[in-house]
Amino acid sequence: MDTEINIREKALETLKKIIANGGPTESDYQDLEFSLGTLAMDGQQSSLVTQQFAPVISSCDFLFDKCSLMGHIRTKPYGYAGDFEIIERIYQKRILKEDYRRWDTYSLKHPAAQAVRNRKKYFKTLLRNKLTQNPSMTLLNIASGPARDLLEVYQDLQYKERLETTCIEMDANAIAYATAVTAPFTAHITFIHKNVFRFQATTTYDLVWSAGLFDYFDDKAFILLLKKFGTWVKPGGEIVVGNFNDDHNPSRLFMELFGEWHLNHRTEQNLINLALEAGFHHNQITVGRESEQINLFLHIKI
Ligand SMILES: C[S@@+](CC[C@H](N)C(=O)[O-])C[C@H]1O[C@@H](n2cnc3c(N)ncnc32)[C@H](O)[C@@H]1O
Repeated sequence: MDTEINIREKALETLKKIIANGGPTESDYQDLEFSLGTLAMDGQQSSLVTQQFAPVISSCDFLFDKCSLMGHIRTKPYGYAGDFEIIERIYQKRILKEDYRRWDTYSLKHPAAQAVRNRKKYFKTLLRNKLTQNPSMTLLNIASGPARDLLEVYQDLQYKERLETTCIEMDANAIAYATAVTAPFTAHITFIHKNVFRFQATTTYDLVWSAGLFDYFDDKAFILLLKKFGTWVKPGGEIVVGNFNDDHNPSRLFMELFGEWHLNHRTEQNLINLALEAGFHHNQITVGRESEQINLFLHIKI
């Protein structure tokens, strides 16, 4: 019978073999998941993880080259995690370098990457439903990133529907990129280069939307910002905030071990409690989710 040590050593060997082969093929996916799960079982306590896993990571060239998906995530070329370029690569399933095709294909198929793409779908469906009820809307899009989601909303607009959008984004590179992406609709989209914590709205909006942002905040910042959002919404309007799900993210280990991408995951109940702490009432709050169940969406009706 295999001892625990043997199982771990086998897992490590499997991992090394996959790395030596230039990444997993589809037939390796299950073995890779199993090996990672086995090696991480005891977290930092395990001597195998600390002594042997770190050199394995160091041997992965792709993790130190921003041309690979996980390399971009790990090396943070814009100085912060979750920049517009990586989100766009996930949306567009973009592979930049043939050498990394196996790793990138695997990374792009991971449930969390699918969940990011589903987040775009969720946004589009939300806007479609709202525009059907109210064909003339205003949107405040906080942390707009590449604005691919916004472009697709505009492309889906029906005759006589009007959507005026203000985007708040702290990265000038993201704004330059997003301005080009949304160029056909420039008359209806304004980008404001600002840290959202310093932003003061001078008007109110039908929808305040933010995805891919609150996962980076602690609870204190989350509540502070949610309170501010409450003052930026018209009566009858809505706030919608995305957050990764603490109860379900099969990609978390891969994201954290390979990408050093650490997000503040939250449960549905955490999100409800934070909204209550921000001063909203139970009857205003609901939580939605995309089909992977990895991204939760806190909805607050005003
Ligand atoms: C993960 S991307 C999300 C982009 C977009 N919401 C999406 O889902 O496609 C996060 C974006 O938030 C921006 N960001 C991060 N912190 C911010 C802050 N405090 N104020 C404004 N933007 C911020 C980043 O520059 C980045 O473009």
